Amino acid sequence: MKEKITALFKQRFGNEGQLYASSGRINLIGEHTDYNGGFVFPGAIDKYIMAMININGTDRVRVYSADLDAYVEFGLKEEDAPQDQWARYIFGVCREVIKRGGTVKGFDTVFAGNVPLGAGLSSSAALESCFAFAMNDLFNDNKLEKFELAKIGQSTEHNYCGVNCGIMDQFASVFGKKDCLIRLDCRSLEYAYFPFKADGYKLVLLDSKVKHELVDSPYNKRRQSCERVAATLGVETLRDATMEMLEAARDRISEEDFMRARYVIGEKQRVLDVCDALERGDMETVGQRMYETHHGLSKDYEVSCEELDYLNDIARECGVTGSRIMGGGFGGCTINLVKEELYDAFIATAKEKFNARYGHEPVVIDVIISDGARRVD
Ligand code: GLA
Repeated sequence: MKEKITALFKQRFGNEGQLYASSGRINLIGEHTDYNGGFVFPGAIDKYIMAMININGTDRVRVYSADLDAYVEFGLKEEDAPQDQWARYIFGVCREVIKRGGTVKGFDTVFAGNVPLGAGLSSSAALESCFAFAMNDLFNDNKLEKFELAKIGQSTEHNYCGVNCGIMDQFASVFGKKDCLIRLDCRSLEYAYFPFKADGYKLVLLDSKVKHELVDSPYNKRRQSCERVAATLGVETLRDATMEMLEAARDRISEEDFMRARYVIGEKQRVLDVCDALERGDMETVGQRMYETHHGLSKDYEVSCEELDYLNDIARECGVTGSRIMGGGFGGCTINLVKEELYDAFIATAKEKFNARYGHEPVVIDVIISDGARRVD
């Protein structure tokens, strides 16, 4: 990718710049908990966005997306926002840096990536984190702290892309570390790296190819449900709610909001259970909790779909240790924790059965836990 980006940059702008990259993410467990002040357990992966950037001495940003073969130019004032969604991610990052008192000046850039789009692997967070990291390095002597970089990406989603997301994706993309998952407490922002050495197991994603689009999706509605329940229970976020509190308030909460909150409160404990189990090397418990999360996301949170439920059923039938829908939902992929000796049979069965029912195979995405935002020299 390095060579391709460098060649395209030279061709378009006649010189070269500095390379930066940032990664997509997986999340072992802890879904829809980030905006509820709960725990998440993500890691950056070996699928990333890479950009070459060169300061151009003007007040304009000139961007070429190699994958889309599209070119956009924009200024750096609020009213200069580009129309194209993909360019708004970069514009938003520039604006959020400036709003925080940072500096951004005109630059030329070419970027490309290999994070599958719409699969729930946070290609947008990878793009935001890559540029937030680069703006900090190129214009601000790295004065912005890493958490601020993650928040710049999150605010970009809120203010320029219409998704009221939590902090998980950008956090994982910025803080990612090779071979480590990261447990983040989204209330205190305390985090801890957990070496992920599941000897004898593989992590594999199966992309259903069902379209996943959080912009204009019911994602924001899920968040509103949670906020309504928290307000009714008199707590800041559902992190501070218990099942007992929820039960006691049942007649003041709609049936739908009740189900949403029941999922979120249950998920809090599951993340902690998984972290403990991982430290003991107890993969059976890790896997069980993953299945429970899937069930909750499907039945109570209602962010799954027929295709993903089917992939989950196939995993269970094949004896896969753990499987669940991953990311925001409404399509995308399942994450599967599978014993190495079962891997080939599982993949073959999943492809065959899914194809027989839906007319196409799920896409197999093997992932390696890798570093997050970085300079590429
Ligand atoms: C999306 C959001 C995250 C998080 C997940 C669900 O990926 O961007 O903030 O809420 O969904 O866990």
